[in-house]
Amino acid sequence: MKKTFILMALATLIFSCGQKKKEGVAVDLSNKGVGPIKAVAFGEVINTEMASKGEEMFKAICSACHMANQRMIGPALSGIYERRSPEWVMNMIINPGVMIQEDPSAKALFKEYNDVNMLNQNLNEDEVRALAEYLRTL
Ligand code: HEC
Repeated sequence: MKKTFILMALATLIFSCGQKKKEGVAVDLSNKGVGPIKAVAFGEVINTEMASKGEEMFKAICSACHMANQRMIGPALSGIYERRSPEWVMNMIINPGVMIQEDPSAKALFKEYNDVNMLNQNLNEDEVRALAEYLRTL
């Protein structure tokens, strides 16, 4: 009886650790988010001119909170388009305040990242599009 109990406790522990480790918010590629960006068409190949403009901005204003492969203040951004649509990503950059309040994925991320607000950098659509292109390279 005691053994069974210990085994069960152990199993629960292992299970809950596994759950915790599985960091991240559910993949949802159909969600376009809340904001002005309704449709984004990525070219088949990466537009390097746009991407390098995006890289400059990323280094200046995003790298304080984001890295490509490691969680920092915000999530690691490598492979972002495997879990979010381009529209969602652009709306998150252009409209983070509303996204955190209204979008289910952004809400969940906000919780997971300890209620830290992703800052609105007041970028225009062209700038955000360049950033979105750069994120494809990570
Ligand atoms: C003050 C820190 C901070 C800055 C600066 C910042 N972010 Fe964020 N970002 C976050 C946090 C924290 C989250 C998680 C959601 C939340 O809590 O708001 C996030 C979430 C994201 C997400 C969603 C990630 C996912 O896994 O779905 C993307 C994409 C993103 N940021 C891109 C950017 C880009 C591009 C910039 C630069 C324009 C930027 N962020 C600037 C803190 C920041």
